[in-house]
Amino acid sequence: MAKILLTGATGYIGSHTWVALKAAGHDVVGVDNFSNSAPEVLNRLAALTGSAPTFENADICDAGALKRIFVRHGVDAVVHFAAFKAVGESAAKPLEYYRNNVGGLVAVCQAMQQHGCRHFVFSSSATVYGEPVFLPYTEAHPLSPMNVYGQTKLMGEQVLRDWAASDAAVRVAFLRYFNPVGAHESGQIGEDPRGVPNNLMPFVAQVAVGRRPHLSIFGNDYETPDGTGVRDYIHVMDLAEGHVAAVDALLGDAGTFTVNLGTGSGQSVLDVVKAYERASGRPIAYQFSPRRPGDLPAYWADASLAKQLLHWEARRGLDTICADSWRWQSLNPQGFEATPA
Ligand code: UFG
Repeated sequence: MAKILLTGATGYIGSHTWVALKAAGHDVVGVDNFSNSAPEVLNRLAALTGSAPTFENADICDAGALKRIFVRHGVDAVVHFAAFKAVGESAAKPLEYYRNNVGGLVAVCQAMQQHGCRHFVFSSSATVYGEPVFLPYTEAHPLSPMNVYGQTKLMGEQVLRDWAASDAAVRVAFLRYFNPVGAHESGQIGEDPRGVPNNLMPFVAQVAVGRRPHLSIFGNDYETPDGTGVRDYIHVMDLAEGHVAAVDALLGDAGTFTVNLGTGSGQSVLDVVKAYERASGRPIAYQFSPRRPGDLPAYWADASLAKQLLHWEARRGLDTICADSWRWQSLNPQGFEATPA
């Protein structure tokens, strides 16, 4: 059992990983500043894990706050989720993205260095690969992100590789996520975007629950089997369990490693819509719209390296993903904020 610091702990992937780490017997200290999450998540985590969460409200760019947290808690490893993640917003606010995603990362690494903590799990993204030279993407695929968000993830990888090169005790797990979707099977935590969802699954969920009239499908003329975009959708609990496997590997004798966290197969937008209709029993109204600028037609992971190195693979398919998403959305139609204090 180890003590794991989670930054961005009350966000979508952070909260699910918190549950998975506790289930695996680890101690968790969560840090967040609620810039894109709700305090109500902590109540849900208390109920799901059966114990009061250990939590610090702090900004990862605040070196003084980080220092106090490391002194107070004696941390064995850090899983770093705290970052901005909206591709469109990243083009409009590049400096905020570089400050939080790169500057915040450096601040966390410096705090770790000062307190003798050398195990780091980094939330990278399949977006670092860019235009496919071949598919599926392997970890050896060339790196060429197509937007500011992706640049911040590639820079984050570089910061960590340089830190690891300077200190043989530093070990980093680079986890390149494909498209995380779904929710904890309890329906108590899930994805709760502020404003209009940028991503497909939360948008579909809000159409199913009646918050939005219809989905716009961005493009039906791609060279894919049904003309709509293809992605590798991974259940967020599979992703969370991938983090547990990564933490255990780092704390064992694994050195630094880089793995894709995906399922190894692609699904189209229309596949997702149909699966969601089956799961919810409701029709999902949609219309075809022009392609979204910057979208790639299709990509998915070669997921074999994670299986080989971590003995981990995604277990939950698209029907489970949609059933769990729908349980979360129907139990919490307005998300966390609607919960009475
Ligand atoms: N889509 C629609 N309508 C919508 C939203 C999305 O048709 O309202 C389509 C997109 O065109 C795409 C697919 O659904 O074909 C998936 O789109 P998402 O926005 O859900 O996900 P992306 O693949 O665009 O982006 C995700 C993450 C990014 C990450 C990127 C690359 O949101 O953070 O994967 O890994 F950078």
